[in-house]
Amino acid sequence: MKEFWNERYQQTAYAYGKLPNVFLAEHLSQLPPGRILFPAEGEGRNAVYAAQLGWEVTCFDQSDAGKEKALALATELSVSIDYHVHTFMEMNYPEESFDAIGLIYAHMPEARRRINHQRMIQCLKPGGIIILEAFSKSHLYYRERNPDVGGPAVEDLLYSSDDIAADFADLSTKLLAESEINLNEGVYHVGTGHVVRYFGRKA
Ligand SMILES: C[S@@+](CC[C@H](N)C(=O)[O-])C[C@H]1O[C@@H](n2cnc3c(N)ncnc32)[C@H](O)[C@@H]1O
Repeated sequence: MKEFWNERYQQTAYAYGKLPNVFLAEHLSQLPPGRILFPAEGEGRNAVYAAQLGWEVTCFDQSDAGKEKALALATELSVSIDYHVHTFMEMNYPEESFDAIGLIYAHMPEARRRINHQRMIQCLKPGGIIILEAFSKSHLYYRERNPDVGGPAVEDLLYSSDDIAADFADLSTKLLAESEINLNEGVYHVGTGHVVRYFGRKA
């Protein structure tokens, strides 16, 4: 899969655009800046946006090509981000070190999802928040009718609101919803899709 993402990010265009995810931006812009982590951050659109708001940004992805594009975007917009190339499995950030974590289309298989989400909760400071948007299991129906909307083609990589409620049961949930949305993110998220959105705070 790393090769797949490197190939995608070697194209000139930004795969999901240069603008942040709308749900992330809506919530992040309401919070006082602190330290934020973006797992699976690809070409850096969310990381760079957070840095523009004054957040101290750490992000990671398995793709070196993603890192190159993200650093180019950061330079273009005169901000700095700390970008690491590694997988979820190799994630090793100190406990209670981030005020927020942004999980935007950070899809992982069912067998790893729960474990990785637990590790992310451990990295959050008390009072820290998680913002998540991911394609829901219902998204397969939309993807079959319009491949341009993108997203994983297999159910194992898609989430339900029950999955997310269970993963983040120890947090105080402020918002958890599944809904149909219109996506217009770069080249690969275009059209109507179905997502899970979550916003919660660690006690
Ligand atoms: C759909 S893109 C989303 C990128 C970014 N979060 C955004 O919203 O623009 C999914 C990203 O997940 C990354 N990814 C998938 N599996 C991963 C893993 N096991 N470890 C690290 N990154 C992974 C891919 O390299 C890709 O950049």
